[in-house]
Amino acid sequence: MAADLERITIRPPDDMHVHLRQGRPMRRYARRISGSFARGVVMPNLIPPVSTEAGLIDYRNKIRKAAPGFEPLVTFKLSPGIAPGQVAALKNSGAVAGKYYPEGVTTNSEDGIRSADEVYPILEAMEGHGIVLCIHGEDPSAPVLEREGVFLSQLEELVRRFPRLNIVLEHVSTREAVKLVDSLPSTVAATVTVHHLLFTLEDMMASGFYPALYCKPVVKGAPDREAIQRTVLEGNPKFFFGSDSAPHPVSAKRNPPVAAGVYSSPVAMPLIIDFFDSHGALDKLEDFVSRFGAEFYSLPLNEGESVWFKESWTVPGVVDGAVPLCAGETLLWKKSRRF
Ligand code: DOR
Ligand code: ZN
Repeated sequence: MAADLERITIRPPDDMHVHLRQGRPMRRYARRISGSFARGVVMPNLIPPVSTEAGLIDYRNKIRKAAPGFEPLVTFKLSPGIAPGQVAALKNSGAVAGKYYPEGVTTNSEDGIRSADEVYPILEAMEGHGIVLCIHGEDPSAPVLEREGVFLSQLEELVRRFPRLNIVLEHVSTREAVKLVDSLPSTVAATVTVHHLLFTLEDMMASGFYPALYCKPVVKGAPDREAIQRTVLEGNPKFFFGSDSAPHPVSAKRNPPVAAGVYSSPVAMPLIIDFFDSHGALDKLEDFVSRFGAEFYSLPLNEGESVWFKESWTVPGVVDGAVPLCAGETLLWKKSRRF
């Protein structure tokens, strides 16, 4: 990494958790993310879900076509309907991970998993084939702020049963989860979003409700945010960047029931650079966005350079038909002199 007061150069970053949706909007979101990230672990919660070899290949081709130069790291949605024998074929079709959504926990998860044992045979196959398990770690039967904490015993059980399975607890949001992931073996890591890193419940609803920040898991309190920040600033390799950028059309974010999801692709890198910069920790930036995630997934590191300028710009109110995080605010860093 090279930095001076005005400019910073890093290895091109990866977004290890992103929602690019489908159809025409996908093309916009894919192009947007390609402006900041070289690769992205793309979530499968489409309708119908990405859960077959043909579905994976088709989705990956469509994203590649929409955003040449951006590499989609595709995933399949776990369900009891997947035969363990299919896992090898899913891997050969490009899957880097399978995503575990508890039933009803978030957008398009009505067909999610009711009880982990439903998918034990698939997890065993994933363990054997070296495919990562990505988990939305919330128990939807618990009160909304306690869902992640309640899920943690299930995470521990999965780690006990599948000691060689690489597991990512996605979008970590509580200090309890940070502590647990840190204490578990090196097969377990977590993604950190820019919104859980920087914001709290106060930002979302202390003075008016800010739907652009509403997501699952919801952002928590200051002690939770501090625990996430501390571990990231320490350069803990178990915690790497995954935006969980999850755009919804403006109408879905403005009218109840407000859809869960933060559209952060347009602002993620400027916010993260500013976070490390303001903590005097720019030396830790590249590991967080360009190294730890790739290493956990056993992927080669990106080659080349990603250059960011210190130049303020105002985030538009609507980007790609969605309200981005920090709409209307002034950010300090920019990828190029054109937005
Ligand atoms: O807030 C969220 N939105 N959390 C998720 O886990 C899914 C995402 C979406 O797909 O909209
Ligand atoms: Zn997500």
